[in-house]
Amino acid sequence: MSKRLENKNIVVTAAGQGIGRATAIAFHKEGAKVIATDINEKTLETLNKEYPNIKVKKLDSTNKEDIEKFSESLERVDILFNAVGFVHHGTILDCDEKDWDFSFNVNIKSMYFMIKFLIPKMIKQKKGNIINVSSIASSLRGLPNRFVYGSSKAAIIGLTKSIAADFIKDNIRCNAIAPGTVHTPSWEDRVKAFKDPVQAKKDFIARQPMGRLGTPKEIADLAVYLASDESDFVTGVTHAIDGGMSI
Ligand SMILES: NC(=O)c1ccc[n+]([C@@H]2O[C@H](COP(=O)([O-])OP(=O)(O)OC[C@H]3O[C@@H](n4cnc5c(N)ncnc54)[C@H](O)[C@@H]3O)[C@@H](O)[C@H]2O)c1
Repeated sequence: MSKRLENKNIVVTAAGQGIGRATAIAFHKEGAKVIATDINEKTLETLNKEYPNIKVKKLDSTNKEDIEKFSESLERVDILFNAVGFVHHGTILDCDEKDWDFSFNVNIKSMYFMIKFLIPKMIKQKKGNIINVSSIASSLRGLPNRFVYGSSKAAIIGLTKSIAADFIKDNIRCNAIAPGTVHTPSWEDRVKAFKDPVQAKKDFIARQPMGRLGTPKEIADLAVYLASDESDFVTGVTHAIDGGMSI
């Protein structure tokens, strides 16, 4: 039986850990030729050790020159999975201009660069597919202490719709994924930063009507569907995957 992503060339950002890593592995298991990128070389090395057929490449998704060079090195790209993101904790009162600029740079300008330099290849190929990781904390829901994070994640939803509208005639699809809270290394770090991490964990879980966090694998499974031709009629849509958080 053929695999769902047989021979598709896929670039994944933030593939060193968490959702990006799980998705790179899921794409690989479905037969894709994956290039896993991240700013963190160490986590990429462990990925490559575990899965030698996943190519890894250190890439800062906010570095325009490096992304341009990277795009020139690619022969073909069928799918771009944009997963880079950073969570700033706090309200507008906790968000200095540098925090605002940092979050918008990492969370959305990175996607602007990645798409700007990779989409010309998709246009030439007359087919392409872009998947951006947003969040429930966005235009979907206002969550306490997610001011700049939610603002930048809402921008991803707008960017996704714009790309979908502009390139539909080029046979390029663009969708977003909006996870609820997912059990990833960065979530563990966020919990540790609270005064009472045990209570903080309980509070995060209590936000999820299903009474549990999501797993990176569950997000990856949705990404496989969106990357595959099974979803060929789907574009411009933000797919919530959140244990009922947005009901
Ligand atoms: N974990 C959650 O609960 C959750 C919920 C909703 C949305 N998301 C989103 O999912 C995505 C992945 O989150 P996660 O928690 O799995 O990841 P994570 O925070 O655990 O890992 C992020 C990865 O991004 C890499 N990275 C950071 N800056 C980079 C840059 N400039 N260039 C390249 N790589 C960079 C890091 O090295 C790391 O490997 C993010 O966009 C996040 O906002 C996560």
